[in-house]
Amino acid sequence: MRIVLVGPPGAGKGTQAKIVADRLKIPAISTGDIFRANVGAGTPLGLEARSYMDSGRLVPDSVTIAMVRDRLSQPDVANGFLLDGFPRNVPQAEELEAILAGMDTKLDVVLELVVDNNEVVKRIAGRRLCRNDSTHIFHVDFNQPSVAGVCDICGGELYQRDDDKEETVRERLAVYERETAPIVGFYGERGLLTTIEATGALDDVTARILTALEDV
Ligand code: AP5
Repeated sequence: MRIVLVGPPGAGKGTQAKIVADRLKIPAISTGDIFRANVGAGTPLGLEARSYMDSGRLVPDSVTIAMVRDRLSQPDVANGFLLDGFPRNVPQAEELEAILAGMDTKLDVVLELVVDNNEVVKRIAGRRLCRNDSTHIFHVDFNQPSVAGVCDICGGELYQRDDDKEETVRERLAVYERETAPIVGFYGERGLLTTIEATGALDDVTARILTALEDV
Protein backbone atom coordinates (compact mmCIF):
# COMPACT_ATOMS: atom_id res chain seq x y z
CA MET A 1 0.00 0.00 0.00
CA ARG A 2 1.20 3.54 -0.83
CA ILE A 3 0.16 5.99 1.87
CA VAL A 4 0.70 9.68 2.60
CA LEU A 5 0.17 11.06 6.13
CA VAL A 6 -0.64 14.75 6.32
CA GLY A 7 -1.37 16.93 9.34
CA PRO A 8 -0.04 19.90 11.29
CA PRO A 9 3.15 19.82 13.36
CA GLY A 10 2.53 17.66 16.44
CA ALA A 11 -0.51 15.88 14.97
CA GLY A 12 1.16 12.53 15.67
CA LYS A 13 2.34 11.74 12.13
CA GLY A 14 5.76 10.40 13.19
CA THR A 15 4.30 8.42 16.10
CA GLN A 16 1.59 6.78 13.98
CA ALA A 17 3.84 6.36 10.91
CA LYS A 18 6.19 4.07 12.80
CA ILE A 19 3.40 1.94 14.31
CA VAL A 20 1.35 1.62 11.10
CA ALA A 21 4.33 1.03 8.80
CA ASP A 22 5.69 -1.68 11.13
CA ARG A 23 2.24 -3.29 11.13
CA LEU A 24 2.00 -3.22 7.32
CA LYS A 25 5.68 -4.17 6.87
CA ILE A 26 6.40 -1.19 4.66
CA PRO A 27 9.02 1.54 5.19
CA ALA A 28 7.98 4.80 6.86
CA ILE A 29 9.73 7.64 5.07
CA SER A 30 9.88 10.94 6.97
CA THR A 31 11.49 13.89 5.20
CA GLY A 32 11.89 15.60 8.60
CA ASP A 33 13.81 12.56 9.94
CA ILE A 34 16.04 12.42 6.84
CA PHE A 35 16.82 16.13 7.23
CA ARG A 36 17.49 15.72 11.00
CA ALA A 37 19.85 12.78 10.34
CA ASN A 38 21.76 14.91 7.82
CA VAL A 39 21.90 17.88 10.21
CA GLY A 40 23.23 15.56 12.93
CA ALA A 41 25.88 14.13 10.59
CA GLY A 42 26.87 17.58 9.32
CA THR A 43 26.42 16.66 5.64
CA PRO A 44 26.09 19.39 2.96
CA LEU A 45 22.35 18.55 2.76
CA GLY A 46 22.07 18.98 6.54
CA LEU A 47 23.93 22.30 6.46
CA GLU A 48 21.56 23.57 3.78
CA ALA A 49 18.41 22.30 5.52
CA ARG A 50 19.30 23.52 9.00
CA SER A 51 18.60 27.25 8.61
CA TYR A 52 15.18 26.55 7.11
CA MET A 53 14.26 24.03 9.82
CA ASP A 54 15.46 26.26 12.67
CA SER A 55 13.23 29.08 11.48
CA GLY A 56 10.24 26.79 10.79
CA ARG A 57 10.26 27.34 7.01
CA LEU A 58 10.12 24.66 4.33
CA VAL A 59 13.39 23.47 2.84
CA PRO A 60 13.38 24.46 -0.88
CA ASP A 61 11.41 22.11 -3.15
CA SER A 62 14.40 21.44 -5.43
CA VAL A 63 16.34 19.92 -2.51
CA THR A 64 13.41 18.05 -0.96
CA ILE A 65 12.03 16.59 -4.17
CA ALA A 66 15.45 15.30 -5.32
CA MET A 67 15.88 13.63 -1.92
CA VAL A 68 12.45 11.94 -2.08
CA ARG A 69 12.95 10.86 -5.69
CA ASP A 70 16.18 9.17 -4.67
CA ARG A 71 14.54 7.51 -1.62
CA LEU A 72 11.64 6.18 -3.73
CA SER A 73 14.11 4.58 -6.13
CA GLN A 74 15.33 2.21 -3.36
CA PRO A 75 14.23 -1.46 -3.61
CA ASP A 76 12.49 -1.54 -0.20
CA VAL A 77 9.56 0.57 -1.47
CA ALA A 78 8.55 -2.03 -4.06
CA ASN A 79 5.64 -3.28 -1.90
CA GLY A 80 4.58 0.12 -0.66
CA PHE A 81 5.58 2.96 1.66
CA LEU A 82 4.20 5.44 4.12
CA LEU A 83 5.28 9.04 3.51
CA ASP A 84 5.31 11.33 6.58
CA GLY A 85 5.89 15.04 5.96
CA PHE A 86 5.96 14.87 2.17
CA PRO A 87 4.33 16.31 0.14
CA ARG A 88 4.14 19.61 1.98
CA ASN A 89 2.78 21.90 -0.75
CA VAL A 90 0.97 21.52 -4.08
CA PRO A 91 4.15 21.56 -6.25
CA GLN A 92 5.54 18.66 -4.15
CA ALA A 93 2.22 16.80 -4.52
CA GLU A 94 2.37 17.25 -8.30
CA GLU A 95 5.98 16.05 -8.37
CA LEU A 96 5.09 13.00 -6.29
CA GLU A 97 2.35 12.14 -8.79
CA ALA A 98 4.91 12.41 -11.60
CA ILE A 99 7.54 10.32 -9.76
CA LEU A 100 4.98 7.56 -9.10
CA ALA A 101 3.67 7.70 -12.68
CA GLY A 102 7.28 7.14 -13.78
CA MET A 103 7.28 4.01 -11.59
CA ASP A 104 3.96 2.97 -13.16
CA THR A 105 2.12 3.29 -9.87
CA LYS A 106 0.12 5.76 -7.77
CA LEU A 107 -0.97 6.53 -4.21
CA ASP A 108 -3.68 4.39 -2.60
CA VAL A 109 -4.71 6.80 0.14
CA VAL A 110 -3.90 10.09 1.88
CA LEU A 111 -4.70 10.15 5.60
CA GLU A 112 -5.25 13.60 7.09
CA LEU A 113 -4.68 13.67 10.88
CA VAL A 114 -6.93 16.35 12.36
CA VAL A 115 -6.02 17.91 15.74
CA ASP A 116 -6.75 21.41 17.05
CA ASN A 117 -3.98 23.94 17.65
CA ASN A 118 -4.21 23.93 21.48
CA GLU A 119 -3.58 20.18 21.53
CA VAL A 120 -0.73 20.55 19.04
CA VAL A 121 1.01 23.12 21.26
CA LYS A 122 0.74 20.79 24.31
CA ARG A 123 2.05 17.83 22.33
CA ILE A 124 5.03 19.70 20.92
CA ALA A 125 5.94 21.35 24.24
CA GLY A 126 6.34 17.92 25.88
CA ARG A 127 7.79 15.96 22.97
CA ARG A 128 11.13 14.20 23.48
CA LEU A 129 13.08 12.32 20.80
CA CYS A 130 15.84 9.74 21.06
CA ARG A 131 19.30 10.90 19.96
CA ASN A 132 20.01 7.46 18.46
CA ASP A 133 16.83 7.24 16.36
CA SER A 134 14.33 10.06 15.83
CA THR A 135 11.52 7.59 15.12
CA HIS A 136 11.61 6.80 18.88
CA ILE A 137 9.19 9.53 20.02
CA PHE A 138 7.98 10.17 23.60
CA HIS A 139 6.03 12.77 25.54
CA VAL A 140 6.66 13.90 29.12
CA ASP A 141 2.93 13.47 29.96
CA PHE A 142 1.13 11.58 27.17
CA ASN A 143 3.70 8.92 26.20
CA GLN A 144 6.18 8.73 29.03
CA PRO A 145 9.35 6.64 28.94
CA SER A 146 9.78 4.29 31.94
CA VAL A 147 12.83 6.31 33.07
CA ALA A 148 12.70 10.08 32.50
CA GLY A 149 15.12 11.18 29.77
CA VAL A 150 15.94 7.64 28.59
CA CYS A 151 14.59 5.91 25.46
CA ASP A 152 12.58 2.76 26.31
CA ILE A 153 13.47 1.18 22.98
CA CYS A 154 17.27 1.55 22.84
CA GLY A 155 18.40 3.33 26.02
CA GLY A 156 19.44 6.47 24.12
CA GLU A 157 19.29 9.97 25.58
CA LEU A 158 16.02 11.85 25.01
CA TYR A 159 16.17 15.48 23.88
CA GLN A 160 13.92 18.32 22.72
CA ARG A 161 14.03 19.30 19.03
CA ASP A 162 15.61 22.68 18.22
CA ASP A 163 12.56 23.65 16.15
CA ASP A 164 10.15 22.90 19.04
CA LYS A 165 10.68 26.36 20.59
CA GLU A 166 7.40 28.28 20.93
CA GLU A 167 8.26 30.96 18.34
CA THR A 168 9.34 28.38 15.73
CA VAL A 169 6.25 26.25 16.38
CA ARG A 170 4.06 29.30 15.69
CA GLU A 171 5.83 29.79 12.35
CA ARG A 172 5.53 26.06 11.49
CA LEU A 173 1.76 26.21 12.15
CA ALA A 174 1.45 29.30 9.91
CA VAL A 175 3.46 27.55 7.17
CA TYR A 176 1.17 24.53 7.50
CA GLU A 177 -1.98 26.65 7.01
CA ARG A 178 -0.50 28.63 4.13
CA GLU A 179 1.44 26.00 2.19
CA THR A 180 0.44 22.49 3.28
CA ALA A 181 -3.32 22.71 3.97
CA PRO A 182 -4.05 23.24 0.23
CA ILE A 183 -2.88 19.67 -0.52
CA VAL A 184 -5.91 18.40 1.42
CA GLY A 185 -8.12 19.84 -1.35
CA PHE A 186 -5.72 18.57 -4.02
CA TYR A 187 -6.12 14.98 -2.77
CA GLY A 188 -9.82 15.41 -2.03
CA GLU A 189 -10.41 16.21 -5.71
CA ARG A 190 -8.63 12.99 -6.63
CA GLY A 191 -10.80 10.90 -4.28
CA LEU A 192 -7.75 9.86 -2.23
CA LEU A 193 -8.45 11.68 1.04
CA THR A 194 -9.54 10.08 4.33
CA THR A 195 -9.84 12.25 7.45
CA ILE A 196 -8.78 10.78 10.79
CA GLU A 197 -9.79 12.34 14.11
CA ALA A 198 -6.35 12.32 15.78
CA THR A 199 -7.29 13.54 19.28
CA GLY A 200 -7.57 10.99 22.09
CA ALA A 201 -5.43 8.10 23.23
CA LEU A 202 -2.58 7.12 20.94
CA ASP A 203 -3.86 3.51 20.57
CA ASP A 204 -7.33 4.79 19.62
CA VAL A 205 -5.85 6.91 16.84
CA THR A 206 -3.90 3.88 15.56
CA ALA A 207 -7.11 1.82 15.57
CA ARG A 208 -8.94 4.52 13.55
CA ILE A 209 -6.12 4.55 10.98
CA LEU A 210 -6.04 0.75 10.64
CA THR A 211 -9.85 0.65 10.25
CA ALA A 212 -9.67 3.33 7.55
CA LEU A 213 -6.97 1.36 5.72
CA GLU A 214 -9.17 -1.76 5.68
CA ASP A 215 -11.62 0.20 3.50
CA VAL A 216 -8.98 1.18 0.93
P1 AP5 B 1 8.83 17.34 10.37
O1 AP5 B 1 9.82 16.58 11.15
O2 AP5 B 1 8.05 16.68 9.31
O3 AP5 B 1 7.87 18.07 11.42
P2 AP5 B 1 6.30 18.38 11.40
O4 AP5 B 1 5.52 18.09 10.19
O5 AP5 B 1 6.25 19.79 11.89
O6 AP5 B 1 5.73 17.35 12.36
P3 AP5 B 1 6.24 16.99 13.75
O7 AP5 B 1 7.40 16.04 13.63
O8 AP5 B 1 6.45 18.23 14.57
O9 AP5 B 1 4.97 16.30 14.40
P4 AP5 B 1 4.30 14.89 14.17
O10 AP5 B 1 2.99 15.09 13.49
O11 AP5 B 1 5.25 13.91 13.54
O12 AP5 B 1 4.02 14.52 15.68
P5 AP5 B 1 4.68 13.42 16.64
O13 AP5 B 1 4.31 12.05 16.22
O14 AP5 B 1 6.13 13.72 16.86
O15 AP5 B 1 9.53 18.60 9.67
C1 AP5 B 1 10.47 19.40 10.38
C2 AP5 B 1 11.04 20.45 9.41
O16 AP5 B 1 11.74 19.78 8.33
C3 AP5 B 1 10.00 21.34 8.70
O17 AP5 B 1 9.63 22.46 9.50
C4 AP5 B 1 10.79 21.75 7.44
O18 AP5 B 1 11.73 22.77 7.71
C5 AP5 B 1 11.55 20.46 7.08
N1 AP5 B 1 10.77 19.60 6.17
C6 AP5 B 1 10.29 18.34 6.43
N2 AP5 B 1 9.64 17.87 5.35
C7 AP5 B 1 9.69 18.82 4.40
C8 AP5 B 1 9.16 18.93 3.08
N3 AP5 B 1 8.43 17.95 2.52
N4 AP5 B 1 9.41 20.07 2.37
C9 AP5 B 1 10.15 21.06 2.91
N5 AP5 B 1 10.65 21.04 4.16
C10 AP5 B 1 10.42 19.93 4.91
O19 AP5 B 1 3.86 13.72 18.00
C11 AP5 B 1 4.05 14.93 18.71
C12 AP5 B 1 4.04 14.64 20.23
O20 AP5 B 1 2.73 14.25 20.60
C13 AP5 B 1 4.98 13.51 20.67
O21 AP5 B 1 5.56 13.84 21.88
C14 AP5 B 1 4.03 12.30 20.83
O22 AP5 B 1 4.49 11.40 21.82
C15 AP5 B 1 2.73 12.96 21.23
N6 AP5 B 1 1.54 12.27 20.76
C16 AP5 B 1 1.37 11.61 19.58
N7 AP5 B 1 0.10 11.12 19.49
C17 AP5 B 1 -0.53 11.52 20.62
C18 AP5 B 1 -1.85 11.33 21.12
N8 AP5 B 1 -2.80 10.67 20.45
N9 AP5 B 1 -2.16 11.89 22.32
C19 AP5 B 1 -1.24 12.59 23.04
N10 AP5 B 1 0.04 12.78 22.62
C20 AP5 B 1 0.39 12.26 21.43
